[in-house]
Amino acid sequence: QLPSRVKLVDVGPRDGLQNEKQPVPAETKIGLVHRLQDAGLREIEVTSFVSPKWVPQMADNAHVMHGIVRKPGVRYSVLTPNMKGLEAALAAPREEWPNEIVVFGAASEAFSQRNINCSIAESIERFAPVVATARENGIDVRGAMSCTVGCPYEGEVAPAKVGYLAQLMKGIGVQRIDVADTIGVGTPRKVQAAMEATLAHFSVDDISGHFHDTYGQALVNTLAALELGVWNFQSSSAGLGGCPYAKGATGNVATEDVVYLLHGMGIETGIDLDRLIDAGVYISEALGRKTGSRVATALLNK
Ligand code: HMG
Ligand code: MG
Repeated sequence: QLPSRVKLVDVGPRDGLQNEKQPVPAETKIGLVHRLQDAGLREIEVTSFVSPKWVPQMADNAHVMHGIVRKPGVRYSVLTPNMKGLEAALAAPREEWPNEIVVFGAASEAFSQRNINCSIAESIERFAPVVATARENGIDVRGAMSCTVGCPYEGEVAPAKVGYLAQLMKGIGVQRIDVADTIGVGTPRKVQAAMEATLAHFSVDDISGHFHDTYGQALVNTLAALELGVWNFQSSSAGLGGCPYAKGATGNVATEDVVYLLHGMGIETGIDLDRLIDAGVYISEALGRKTGSRVATALLNK
């Protein structure tokens, strides 16, 4: 019995654009957020409050958060790896605060070092006050776990490492957790093993799948997660993206492709596929390239 409804978080403005070499104007990012919410997305990962030296593309974080015109019922999330990031996110007037912040760790030590410049244990120490302060201020907290099936530096990652990180995240008050296949190497049984290790610490309602499509496995991994009852997923319109510290990794699975899969199985998303395709065309044209969505490509060529 698969879930009858799925919530998709479009992470395109953040995960999708963070690795883009050409400067993307804040206005374009804001335009993408507006199109996504008009297409029916109920949560959008807008930007990240990280070091502009590490990720220059997200340096306009405050500008983007200021520029979006919020739609009632839509939640806006941002990445905050440390107190400095959270303080920057909360420096804005309250109505521009994110609804949810994301602290992001890794199931592999090497990736933790490369991505956030500290060990897994140190990352949890850094996240603890971020989580506490966010929650005191009424902001929800999600934890992202990178490299839950494979790491670009360490190779295969054991489910026990995922369980260990999930337990640490739970221990500091993280409410929801992403099981991410950062480099897209996972296959269904491996993804299910990572999910099951996470299920030992979080309810199925609080777990999301975050699949990159590097090896073309993201949709089948989505189905594998659905089989376990997982009903929250992250994806990027037009399949944008890649992580700057995961060389060769492509973008997230395209939101259009996930929506087509889900609607085809009678699973509700609240998303209008045509309008979503328009959002993907908008950002692809702004970047001067073709959409990475197979479904959008097929429907646009019909
Ligand atoms: P650090 O260098 O260890 O931090 O970076 P530090 O505390 O030693 O500070 C060094 C400098 O950075 C200082 O500036 C700080 O002020 C500044 P300086 O004195 O040299 O001028 N700094 C900051 N500036 C702005 N905002 C901040 C901030 N923090 C410090 N928040 C840090 C540690 C985590 C900040 C750094 O490593 C970093 O920014 N990393 C970027 C990580 C990132 O954004 N990765 C991509 C997102 S994760 C991802 O894509 C995976 C995901 O999608 C799931 C998946 O697919 O796996 C979520
Ligand atoms: Mg990602």
